[in-house]
Amino acid sequence: MTWYKVPDIQYTKNPFIKKVKVNGKGICLVGYEGEIYALAATCPHAGGELSGGWCKDGKLICPIHRYAYDIHTGKGDPGQNDYVDTYPVEIREDGIYIGITSFLEKVKNAFK
Ligand code: FES
Repeated sequence: MTWYKVPDIQYTKNPFIKKVKVNGKGICLVGYEGEIYALAATCPHAGGELSGGWCKDGKLICPIHRYAYDIHTGKGDPGQNDYVDTYPVEIREDGIYIGITSFLEKVKNAFK
């Protein structure tokens, strides 16, 4: 896994939802109850932009058809049978960092 600094954003305890691009990957960054969460930016149902949605009870709600994804695990609500990828987040002195595992690393890990 490699850690990438999120450009143009500073840590805040205020709630927010923002799409960012990190290492060429679209990520939906969510500030919720003082913590920062990173999820895939695109809804797996029909491609909605999750950053246009909102948070409710620890879930990110897609603005298109209101599917809900747990911001901790990425797991969709029961009956949706889907999920979004989640990424580890670190708050460092100089900014917010997201850990991304490359496809090659995932393949290598699968054969360990
Ligand atoms: S596109 Fe997100 S719920 Fe349908």
